Amino acid sequence: MSRSSSNVTLDPSKLEDISLPGQRFFGLFGHIPEMDASFPFQSIWKMADQYGPIFKLKLGDDMVYPTETNWGKAHRLLVPAFGLLGVRKMFDDMLDISSEMVLKWDRLGAQNEIDMADDLTRLAFDTIGLCAFSFRFNEFYGEQVHPFAGQMARVLLASGKRAFRPGLVNQVLTWSENERQEDISKMHAVADEIVRDREAHPQPDNKDLLNTMLSTADRETGEKLSDENIRFNLVTFLVAGHETTSGTLCFLYYNLLRNPETFIKAQQEVDRVVGDSVLTLEHLPSLTYLDACIKETLRLSSPIPTLVVKPKQDTSLGGRYKVSSNTWVQCNMRGLHTDPAVWGEDANVFRLERMLNGAFASLPPNS
Ligand code: HEM
Repeated sequence: MSRSSSNVTLDPSKLEDISLPGQRFFGLFGHIPEMDASFPFQSIWKMADQYGPIFKLKLGDDMVYPTETNWGKAHRLLVPAFGLLGVRKMFDDMLDISSEMVLKWDRLGAQNEIDMADDLTRLAFDTIGLCAFSFRFNEFYGEQVHPFAGQMARVLLASGKRAFRPGLVNQVLTWSENERQEDISKMHAVADEIVRDREAHPQPDNKDLLNTMLSTADRETGEKLSDENIRFNLVTFLVAGHETTSGTLCFLYYNLLRNPETFIKAQQEVDRVVGDSVLTLEHLPSLTYLDACIKETLRLSSPIPTLVVKPKQDTSLGGRYKVSSNTWVQCNMRGLHTDPAVWGEDANVFRLERMLNGAFASLPPNS
């Protein structure tokens, strides 16, 4: 695979070809006409219902992945800083930002509506800024949510569309590519502003991710990260950490409100465990019902629709299917998370018993 090598001995004669569903327009555009460009994953989910658990698609090939050297350097530096211990150290900063949001909700009172998607985006963005880069975006003090959120959403959408279009069409659509590049430049400018701020106000004793990237050499190559690699990683953190967490929290509230009895139980648990005291790390292991609510939300409303990998060499899937080295493999997370063989016929129902009282620990591996 692209991120870890595995030497699989192949006996191609024993491997099956993955089935290739029929294509419209004599196959001229592969399966691209089957894809809804604004929500391609929904098209993939529909095809999975139609074609079964594994099938092949012919699509555009406009995906770019970082070079392994640059990825490796950043990965080795950041994984220890972002491990469990590092995240525990971020708790006070997380509490700081979530207190700002709770205070806002409290002051708004019951007579005002709360725009959850907007506030949870602010929460996620501010939390990453403070926890990872000790930088305050101050999202709860402005009228508009930071423009990075809009830029990111447009870039993700436009990049998704590019990946599902023939290369020739992409070459013609120069204006949409110009807009995408403009948004990317603005996102880079946000990253550069954070770096400039730290350079202007050094914090030598701070062990946050930004200082790690700016001042630590990679143990394998002995090299520090280039300015460009730092910029790309800052943007990766802001994007990867912000949409996923705000989306998960939004769906958590959605699922709880759609099932009010779960909302009430979650509330009772918080009252019982935390009460009127300030939330601490020590409270977390006792919030088992809330933990189940988050797990069931991640299963049913995962913010990650697919995982995409590409093998370095010809290989096989499950020892059964042939996969050549030029094939992108997408794992359909929704299919995995709602497989009736594992989750039963009510797989599409928000049911917390699946995650409570040891049920989570007894799920089949990789489910
Ligand atoms: C509900 C929350 C989250 C979910 C479901 C999630 C999920 C994922 C997934 C599925 C991957 C790809 C893993 C792979 O390809 O092997 C990933 C990668 C990544 N995530 Fe998250 N993530 C979440 C929160 C965060 C947060 C809060 C941050 C940072 C503040 C973050 C930063 C990253 C980074 C930097 C990568 C790339 C790692 C690498 O290539 O080494 N994620 N995440």
